[in-house]
Amino acid sequence: MTQRKVAFVTGAASGLGRAAAEAFVAKGYATILADRDEAGGRKVEALLREQGDCLFVPCDVANDASVKDAIAQGVEKYGRLDAAFNAAGIDGEHGRMTADCTLENWQRVLQIDLTGTFHCLRHEIPHMLKSGGGSIVNCSSVAGLRGAPTFAAYCAAKHGVIGLTKAAALEYAREKIRVNAICPGTIDTPMNQGLDEELLRSLLESSPAGRLGLPEEIAATVLFLCEEQAAFISGQAIAVDGAWTAR
Ligand SMILES: NC(=O)c1ccc[n+]([C@@H]2O[C@H](COP(=O)([O-])OP(=O)(O)OC[C@H]3O[C@@H](n4cnc5c(N)ncnc54)[C@H](O)[C@@H]3O)[C@@H](O)[C@H]2O)c1
Repeated sequence: MTQRKVAFVTGAASGLGRAAAEAFVAKGYATILADRDEAGGRKVEALLREQGDCLFVPCDVANDASVKDAIAQGVEKYGRLDAAFNAAGIDGEHGRMTADCTLENWQRVLQIDLTGTFHCLRHEIPHMLKSGGGSIVNCSSVAGLRGAPTFAAYCAAKHGVIGLTKAAALEYAREKIRVNAICPGTIDTPMNQGLDEELLRSLLESSPAGRLGLPEEIAATVLFLCEEQAAFISGQAIAVDGAWTAR
């Protein structure tokens, strides 16, 4: 009998993390839902329990011990770890040029988006080594592939996520742990609902496809990267952006 696979998803209470968690559950993965938003995470857990097996664990990715504990709780319940989508993230303050980016914003965005991803990797990998391999998808952005004016901290963090992805992919390839980064364009999630109208209009105008992406379109790529058919794909930064970075 083949063993049921287990996935760990951060940022599972909302947006891309939530969509990927839904896709993992639909595919039959026992899914560990991690988020610092406990109320939102428990709501998603209640909804997804109707379709499959999942467990919400409170987790602040900025805190190494919290990540370690969240993964340990999930692995204690489900026995192994095969896949992870490290999606928790923030975009931080908008609209300030680099010299005006506050130190507070810089540190907060780097701590959650980059160091948070590192915390996830360092606690996911040991469990995957025990499971005989696995697939990790880190959430970067098109801002990890191109400059993003007035988003210096976010842009630096998301470029960093790609470097971290490549280093880990090289290190663990022989152990059958694959590590990729996904680079979404502008996707219709709560993160963008806070943007001012002018910025949102300019993002839509710059979209070759003339629309925002859908969370399910990112989730489908995450699932593909975690499955056997992607067994030779590792160390890549994969844009899912309706051709935005093709310019
Ligand atoms: N939406 C987009 O257009 C877009 C584009 C490119 C990349 N991304 C990236 O996708 C990821 C998900 O974004 P989204 O659009 O779903 O945003 P979202 O705001 O809808 O969801 C983010 C989730 O992460 C959680 N979170 C934030 N900080 C956390 C922390 N310290 N610990 C644990 N959980 C935390 C939030 O509670 C929330 O549930 C982020 O890394 C973001 O940078 C989003």
